[in-house]
Amino acid sequence: MTSKVEEQNEIKKPKRRGEMITICSAKGGVGRTVMTVNLAVALCKKNMKIAILDGDYMFGDVGLAMDLQSAFTIKNVIEDIDDLDEVTLASYFSKHESGVRVLAAPDRPEYSELVTKDNIQQILDLMLEAFDYVIVDTNVGLHDQTLPLVEKADQILMLTNLEMATLKNTKLMLETLETLDLREKVNTIINRSTMESVISASDVPDILGDYEPHYIPNDFQVASQSLNIGIPFVVNQGKTELAKSIFKMAEQLTSRREIKVYGTEQPSFLSKIFQRSKRS
Ligand SMILES: Nc1ncnc2c1ncn2[C@@H]1O[C@H](COP(=O)(O)OP(=O)(O)OP(=O)(O)O)[C@@H](O)[C@H]1O
Ligand SMILES: [Mg+2]
Repeated sequence: MTSKVEEQNEIKKPKRRGEMITICSAKGGVGRTVMTVNLAVALCKKNMKIAILDGDYMFGDVGLAMDLQSAFTIKNVIEDIDDLDEVTLASYFSKHESGVRVLAAPDRPEYSELVTKDNIQQILDLMLEAFDYVIVDTNVGLHDQTLPLVEKADQILMLTNLEMATLKNTKLMLETLETLDLREKVNTIINRSTMESVISASDVPDILGDYEPHYIPNDFQVASQSLNIGIPFVVNQGKTELAKSIFKMAEQLTSRREIKVYGTEQPSFLSKIFQRSKRS
């Protein structure tokens, strides 16, 4: 039987909120969906509870990239929004064999309009209570429906490649995020960083002003086959440099979070000393 004190502690203990990672890019076709599904599965392999929100509401293809036939989509969740709680929301996820849960995008582009700033906030709050990480795929650029997804994110991963047009637009999008006071949350990912280009990957930090980007190698065969057969390459191509770079990223993201959580939950060195001297 739990004592009164234990019960009260249970009530007072704040629920630990999961971390939201939003993946975006200033150009289409840069690799957001490939990154979303592989990062999610890589994190799930570390024994954490992981969900994906397909925030590309109009043409989302996370379901395709994971070979999921989603019985329900975010449209069903929105129809049920007044009665929504953790349990009802859970019944709308599709489950990938890795353990990752996916809240799919609507099956018709016109339904994308049903998603509003308010209902997506409510859905995300519930998801963040239930999962360690919520990974969000987005539409290209910073549209009205993408903005709430970057504002609410704990980390924004901005994908670019080595093409001049992508870099130009990425720089502009980073400037916009700076204006919105969101720049601090952004980490750049240079996708296809080993591809032949007049711009080399080592030039990108100076161009974008981000000096600690993640580098993901170019491997079109593995990436495109994985998308086409609907098996994230971290599942069955774990030994490739491409998959290894995603595992490395997952490791870096989680260790950064552990430092943050440890930092907030542990009393500081000085406060420990202070308490000890009060006791003696
Ligand atoms: N690291 C990589 N190396 C080689 N090819 C890649 C890599 N990452 C992604 N691709 C390829 O880039 C193409 C686009 O990938 P993906 O669909 O993930 O991009 P996206 O940004 O989600 O596109 P969209 O704007 O259509 O949503 C795919 O053909 C994929 O195989
Ligand atoms: Mg996509």
